Amino acid sequence: MIKIKNISKIYNIGSEKLTVLDSVSLDIEKGEFVAIVGPSGSGKSTLMNMIGGLDSPSMGEVIIENQDISKLKDKKMSKFRNEKIGFIFQSFNLEPTLTALENVMMPLVIAGASDKEMKDRAKSVLEDLGMGDRIKHKPTELSGGQRQRVSIARALANDPKIILADEPTGNLDSKSGLAVMEILTDFKRRGYTIVMVTHNMEEAKHADRIIRIKDGKVEV
Ligand SMILES: Nc1ncnc2c1ncn2[C@@H]1O[C@H](COP(=O)(O)OP(=O)(O)OP(=O)(O)O)[C@@H](O)[C@H]1O
Ligand SMILES: [Mg+2]
Repeated sequence: MIKIKNISKIYNIGSEKLTVLDSVSLDIEKGEFVAIVGPSGSGKSTLMNMIGGLDSPSMGEVIIENQDISKLKDKKMSKFRNEKIGFIFQSFNLEPTLTALENVMMPLVIAGASDKEMKDRAKSVLEDLGMGDRIKHKPTELSGGQRQRVSIARALANDPKIILADEPTGNLDSKSGLAVMEILTDFKRRGYTIVMVTHNMEEAKHADRIIRIKDGKVEV
């Protein structure tokens, strides 16, 4: 499903080179739930952004469903992201001026679905996540746990095959965090491939496999 071959990410800071990812290789199977752990600054988010096509590596290949996405141009990359990847972020990244329903509709707008299709789909995903009675609320009118459920609904709106969650419980209390973990575990059961970054070892235990990153390298 996901094949990462020798990717490196190097930033030029003035005349210095900063190696943030150093020849990382990784295979993630279809339907696998993988947790990525490691110290702050070790390159976890950078790696997630490469998998999701939000950023490209300086060297190496990122192959998703047999396609090397590291060389896709902007427009094709956006299409790839919108169709195949659902992102969940620590800070939710919801659009504050839009309602929960409209936020969840966003990826469907980009995909060019009809108005009725979009509304029906967005509503059904929100209902599935226990948010059916909050669809008209704006992000500021929701609790943190509810915001994260809206952001999960948005990630799932286009029915992507891969879910990337970068510290999805980082801003939540333990009860809401546990609810998010239960949702992710449930989606694993439904066959989604999930990659999650976490600082919480209890959470990492929900995953099939734990990958440790340190100083831009995968520890073996
Ligand atoms: N645009 C950039 N230019 C230069 N350096 C960058 C840039 N983006 C990230 N970095 C550096 O890359 C390193 C890895 O960052 P990354 O965000 O991947 O870490 P992380 O493992 O996700 O950390 P955290 O657990 O704190 O979220 C950091 O040292 C950071 O300073
Ligand atoms: Mg990070």
